[in-house]
Amino acid sequence: MLFRRIQTLCDLVVLAVIVTPSLQSQDQWTWPEKPKNLQVLNKDRPGSVLSPIMRGFTRSLGVRCSHCHVGEEGKSLSTFDFASDANPNKDRAREMLRMLGSVNNHLKKIEPSGDKRVNMWCHTCHRGRPRPMTLAEDLEEKYRARGIDAVLEHYADLKLRYENRGAYDFGERTLNDLGFDLLGKGDAAAAIKIFKLNTDEFPKSANAWDSLAEAHMKAGDTMLATQFYEKVLEMDPKSENAKEMLKKIKEGGKK
Ligand code: HEC
Ligand code: HEC
Repeated sequence: MLFRRIQTLCDLVVLAVIVTPSLQSQDQWTWPEKPKNLQVLNKDRPGSVLSPIMRGFTRSLGVRCSHCHVGEEGKSLSTFDFASDANPNKDRAREMLRMLGSVNNHLKKIEPSGDKRVNMWCHTCHRGRPRPMTLAEDLEEKYRARGIDAVLEHYADLKLRYENRGAYDFGERTLNDLGFDLLGKGDAAAAIKIFKLNTDEFPKSANAWDSLAEAHMKAGDTMLATQFYEKVLEMDPKSENAKEMLKKIKEGGKK
């Protein structure tokens, strides 16, 4: 939290230094009286009604105007071409608006079980992210693109930015499942890094240590597997799996 405050403070200082000359013209930008290129939203209303909608979009997705419009971040809004469709995210957002309209039409057809109908908004899915994904999907995408070390960095970054915003499930199941996915794909080294991270995050979870032991077992490192299965037994003396595995390792060692 503290870090995020400092981060935005730094952003402000940097912004002020870089764009002070254009800040004045930024103030002079106003919503168009008559928008030129509305294909989904009501085009007969004055442009100023777009203000809460567009600001809602930026907040819901955690982005700036330039995410969907043609214009350079930090430059005055009067240099933006808001009517242009050249930024592909604008058409993506239009499709989202149509989707939301259709979802809400369906919602109107059901009798709500609460006292009021629940609406669906951009932020219901997006929750401050440009592309709403589960934490596992997000980390897997990073793994495919840049490998396991980038995943670890990405996890730390996401946790810093989103931990208390309900955007991702930072519970121990997420990393545990991801680790087993990686193990299933035959990448035991990557799985070990993920399970290790999970034991750092949830040091009191016997299950997290059990998974780490299992991955070391798969990787053929019986010494570390023993160490971690013993830790599981310390935490959870009733663990049949840990007892069984330790017995197996001992018997294997005698051969
Ligand atoms: C998530 C994408 C998205 C973001 C972020 C966004 N917009 Fe838009 N904006 C749109 C879409 C889509 C339309 C066109 C809607 C339609 O076709 O009915 C639009 C239309 C507009 C228009 C009307 C342009 C015209 O003349 O037709 C203005 C002005 C505008 N946006 C300003 C802004 C400003 C200012 C911001 C930042 C505060 C912003 N928008 C952020 C998606 C976005
Ligand atoms: C039902 C859930 C849901 C809702 C509601 C929703 N979105 Fe999305 N949106 C998604 C998903 C999922 C993606 C990612 C698609 C992909 O990349 O495969 C996405 C992607 C986008 C993108 C592309 C972003 C990028 O960087 O690739 C934009 C822009 C966008 N949404 C805008 C909006 C706006 C504006 C609204 C509200 C009008 C909205 N969305 C409502 C699920 C939703």
